[in-house]
Amino acid sequence: MTNEELAGQTEQEPSLAVAAAWVAAAKKIVVLTGAGISAESGIPTFRDAQTGFWAQYKPEDMASEKGYRTNPTMVWRWYEYRRELVAKVDPNAGHLALAEFEKRHPGAITLATQNVDGLHQRAGSSDVLCLHGDLNTQKWLDTPRDCCYIEHAQAGDPPSCDVCGNMLRPAVVWFGEALPYKVFGRAQDAASECDLMLVVGTAGAVYPAAGLANVAKRCGAKVVIVNPAPSGLDDVADLKIRGTAAAVLPRILAS
Ligand code: APR
Repeated sequence: MTNEELAGQTEQEPSLAVAAAWVAAAKKIVVLTGAGISAESGIPTFRDAQTGFWAQYKPEDMASEKGYRTNPTMVWRWYEYRRELVAKVDPNAGHLALAEFEKRHPGAITLATQNVDGLHQRAGSSDVLCLHGDLNTQKWLDTPRDCCYIEHAQAGDPPSCDVCGNMLRPAVVWFGEALPYKVFGRAQDAASECDLMLVVGTAGAVYPAAGLANVAKRCGAKVVIVNPAPSGLDDVADLKIRGTAAAVLPRILAS
């Protein structure tokens, strides 16, 4: 570990101790996660400079219905690439710390994630509120008719109905689309009732998911941010821990 990293660790110690004490004292905790919690598993984030997906692709081309209708094969293959990438990696210590805490304290944590990679579920977290859907699930692009049935899908091409041409699409929330109503409603309710919210690995740039931190704050919860870099939610935070999910979560969720 370099001297700077050591200094960083020492610098963070007081914040880690405070956050761990708040976790131990909390009755209801909401954890809102973003792409950063999967970074140490090897999954690119979206907005990290150079390495993020949006440094290589335009969000409107890859994560919108218009983009999919314009170039279905390119978008389908991007999601196929992401599915293959996720299948090759494992949950990291950050995901595991959340799952183990939940097992030690049943009912204490509500986990709401913006991620679609399924790594929280693979780590053992249950009842994960998937605000932006699931990379490994598909649905019909247009309302399916009686003819819509897929017998065989060619790898690399978007599966489509042989009769009417309706295509399957990733069951994720694209820009401009509403979040799953019931899932987001449960996340809002949990945020309004919690006494502590941990915001882990999100730039806090995309609403309404990021707004859950404001809901928690308005309703009297303490808000702790775990992120090595500044985020769009820093002004809502009672405590900012400048560290990575895999290093910090096992420390503050040890109780
Ligand atoms: N641990 C914790 N945080 C990290 C780590 C790490 N190891 N590595 C990076 N981060 C932080 C970055 O500093 C950044 O603030 O994670 C955040 C990732 O931000 P984004 O890439 O914008 O991801 P996210 O906030 O989840 O994006 C929200 O935007 O593009 C849409 O639908 C997509 O769900 C996504 C949404």
